[in-house]
Amino acid sequence: MKAKVRKAVIPAAGLGTRFLPVTKTVSKEMIPIIDKPMIHYIVEEAIESGVEDIILITSRHKEDLERYFDYNYELEDRLMKAGKVEMAKGIKKIAESCNIICVYQKEPAGLGHAVGCARPVVGGEPFAVLLGDDLIDAKVPCTRQLIDVHEREELSVVGVMEVPLTETSKYGIVGGKKLDERTLRVETMVEKPAAGDAPSRFAIPGRYVVDSSIFDSIAKTKPGKNGEIQFTDALLDLARNKGLLAYRFDGDRYDTGDRIGYLDATLTFGLRRPELRAGILALLEKHRTGAK
Ligand code: G1P
Repeated sequence: MKAKVRKAVIPAAGLGTRFLPVTKTVSKEMIPIIDKPMIHYIVEEAIESGVEDIILITSRHKEDLERYFDYNYELEDRLMKAGKVEMAKGIKKIAESCNIICVYQKEPAGLGHAVGCARPVVGGEPFAVLLGDDLIDAKVPCTRQLIDVHEREELSVVGVMEVPLTETSKYGIVGGKKLDERTLRVETMVEKPAAGDAPSRFAIPGRYVVDSSIFDSIAKTKPGKNGEIQFTDALLDLARNKGLLAYRFDGDRYDTGDRIGYLDATLTFGLRRPELRAGILALLEKHRTGAK
């Protein structure tokens, strides 16, 4: 019988150095896009994809993340007493809609190591992995698209998008045999290759659905690029031993780990809010023309 994907792992133990100094005391995942922290969007994608249990891989410095997914009884009570019922329900919703399980990554040993920390919670089930620096805006959530492929093909799958050769050094890049317009069977994977070493232009922007045998691959993986246990290297082992697909998902991706990508996401999501649209457009015009 096919196993349903009910769990998602979200690695969130990183230091967020690209957003210093704010990340000195605020977790980078808590930086808001308008008024919701980035992690909120990622957790929503997982929930909308059918995930029930979310395993946050975090560290002892990031209690703000854990607290965000808890109830805030005092605040809810005060909002209720002030007659702000919708607001009170709104702040409770994310905490009600899934189970959040926090696991510490005790040492910064790489993304593969971070995912490996979820083993005791995930057990033998297939699961999704979502990286917090990548927001993917799609009609069908990207993780759902990958779960559909996993259910149909009964193979682990990574989401990919085509990038220019000048950008291969920012991503894990896959190479392999084309099966159809959207799907490849992965034969090789390289973490952040220079353009000349890239097996293709298909890059992984942080969405994966994998079988639990990935944990054996992670356990075998030696430190690779930057002396870290790379998830990409473990996935290559999985590809060779059990098979792995790459699926060109339908959707737009924002690199919110990058300051310009972050602004792009803020504008895109802000312009979609009817109450903010006119104000944002007026501001952009003011800056474009230099008007006072
Ligand atoms: C990680 C992964 C890389 C992936 C990228 C997506 O790198 O190691 O394979 O393409 O996320 O954002 P990081 O950006 O964390 O260095």
